[in-house]
Amino acid sequence: MEETIKKLFAPGKGILAADESTHTIEKRFATLGLTSTPELNKKYREMLFNTSGIENYLGGVILFDESVRQNLHNILQEKDIVPGIKVDGGLESFNGSEEQITKGLDGLDTRLKEYSVLGLKFTKWRAAVRISDIFPTDAFLEEDLNRMAQFAKISQITGFTPIVEPEVQLDGNHTTTRCAEVSVKVCRILFEKLNIAGIDLKNLILKTNMVLPGKDSGVKAAPLEVAEVTLRSLKQSVPPEVGGIVFLSGGQTPDEATNNLNEIVKRRGDCPWPLSFSFSRALQEETMRQWSGKDENIEYAQNTFLDRLIKVSKARKGEL
Ligand code: 13P
Repeated sequence: MEETIKKLFAPGKGILAADESTHTIEKRFATLGLTSTPELNKKYREMLFNTSGIENYLGGVILFDESVRQNLHNILQEKDIVPGIKVDGGLESFNGSEEQITKGLDGLDTRLKEYSVLGLKFTKWRAAVRISDIFPTDAFLEEDLNRMAQFAKISQITGFTPIVEPEVQLDGNHTTTRCAEVSVKVCRILFEKLNIAGIDLKNLILKTNMVLPGKDSGVKAAPLEVAEVTLRSLKQSVPPEVGGIVFLSGGQTPDEATNNLNEIVKRRGDCPWPLSFSFSRALQEETMRQWSGKDENIEYAQNTFLDRLIKVSKARKGEL
């Protein structure tokens, strides 16, 4: 597990999240007029993973089960990029309310043993925390973060490095201050639960949202503000022992996510964890659009993917 953390956080490197569930990749492809099928998903992801030079910027890639069945992790292993796997089972209504809780603990240990044989090294579990006037509720956080801690426990017992991803979502018209309050609260509860579960924090990665004003608030925060409030929130809620922190992009544009990461790293000061990226949309959006399902666009789309990775890698060093 220590070796995995070292590789994932190697200088200038980060993690590509290519673990869109069947439903999510359907939605992404549909915006381009494409119909997602296992074959088309495979073609697209092969294009990403076969891009020459990505191993200089990626320590790891998070996969979805379908890609592992298609043996796509072999392409990554050949490049010495560590393959990991999303293992949560998506969201369901919490007690019939609008809050969406993460499911997937049933049979998890059996699935993990199978993934271990295939050479996968780390796991990811996402919780989606929605902000509104009444959400998140305490009962929801209690149950959702308990499940996340159980996931981390089962992962470590079976030899995987867990990535816990409590995503405070960008949707809504909330202020930056409210996002900071909720992000701090969520992480405090999560680390309480991880502590009770006896998790080895140095072999755990936190995947977190940047602290931002809601998408519908009409406000855009400057990178300097995002960096200061994000770092302050993390220092208030994340124990120093944690193996590392990676940021999700959460629906920001590729440039916003890249510039905000750059500023966060530049202002990191004495913060105790390695900081890096684990973007899905901010790394893939431009590439997916340029590809648009056509073989003749592959080279162009791969060049774009590499260009974005180079920028994000610079941002990860605060050198943009
Ligand atoms: P985004 O970077 O698109 O937010 O995705 C990260 C992720 O892994 C969501 O689970």
